[in-house]
Amino acid sequence: MKKPPLLSLNRVSKTFGGLVAVNDLNLEVSQGYIFGLIGPNGAGKTTVFNLITGVYPCAHGSIRLEDSELTILKPYRIARLGISRTFQTIRLFPNMTTWEHVLIGQNFLSRPRLGGILPLQRAEEFTLREQAQEALKVLGLWEMKERRAVTLPYGSQRKVEIARALAARPKLLLLDEPTAGMNAREKEDVLNALAKIHDFGVTILVIEHDMRVVMGLCDHIFVLNFGQKIAEGTPSEIRKNEEVLEAYLGQEE
Ligand SMILES: Nc1ncnc2c1ncn2[C@@H]1O[C@H](COP(=O)(O)OP(=O)(O)OP(=O)(O)O)[C@@H](O)[C@H]1O
Ligand SMILES: [Mg+2]
Repeated sequence: MKKPPLLSLNRVSKTFGGLVAVNDLNLEVSQGYIFGLIGPNGAGKTTVFNLITGVYPCAHGSIRLEDSELTILKPYRIARLGISRTFQTIRLFPNMTTWEHVLIGQNFLSRPRLGGILPLQRAEEFTLREQAQEALKVLGLWEMKERRAVTLPYGSQRKVEIARALAARPKLLLLDEPTAGMNAREKEDVLNALAKIHDFGVTILVIEHDMRVVMGLCDHIFVLNFGQKIAEGTPSEIRKNEEVLEAYLGQEE
């Protein structure tokens, strides 16, 4: 029997004034795979992430993570259910070290405590530190943990953001153009890290413009154009799809 999806979007739409950014979208992401979300500029990809994470309220349709309906939840509740993300543009704090960035990524996980049972809190803190350490090591940032994140090379700054998202031990990791602006070596590095993250059992949904990265990394790809899903399938199916080719060729004109 087919496994129920980890994440499902059912007839999701989002408008900004008169603009339909996401149009009647259905997506199913099953646990344990790497999914790609591609499409021309302005296709609605980032908006889909903002809807899943509760940044934008979703007026139409349903978004579920396993048994939970996300469209009625605040962003921090959605994060606690196990969804982490990175952003299309770098968002780092000027005075914080790499280590501090990764630790604050987990802050929302600690629940407010009444009374406070010290040994338990210590155990929890210990676990969070271990997770932060592991995330930094997976991304190859451990040696740089004491450096201010904004002083790192561009590629490493982007990796800090992935480490921060990973340290929360998400079920689902949403990455918005994780290799944008990177050179070939940095891209290779990130790809290796993503493969390791996947091996930990984290399901990944990644927005990516670099077709080589997408085709090499993803098990299954969704293609958006003007807010609508125009195709989905394996990399080899997508490569052959006429409508997809047209959407991309149209952009180059
Ligand atoms: N907050 C907003 N207010 C108004 N319009 C928005 C807002 N966010 C996105 N849009 C519009 O919605 C459409 C989809 O934008 P979105 O950022 O989701 O595209 P994208 O596929 O991520 O594009 P890119 O590849 O350039 O990042 C665009 O036309 C964009 O201008
Ligand atoms: Mg975008």
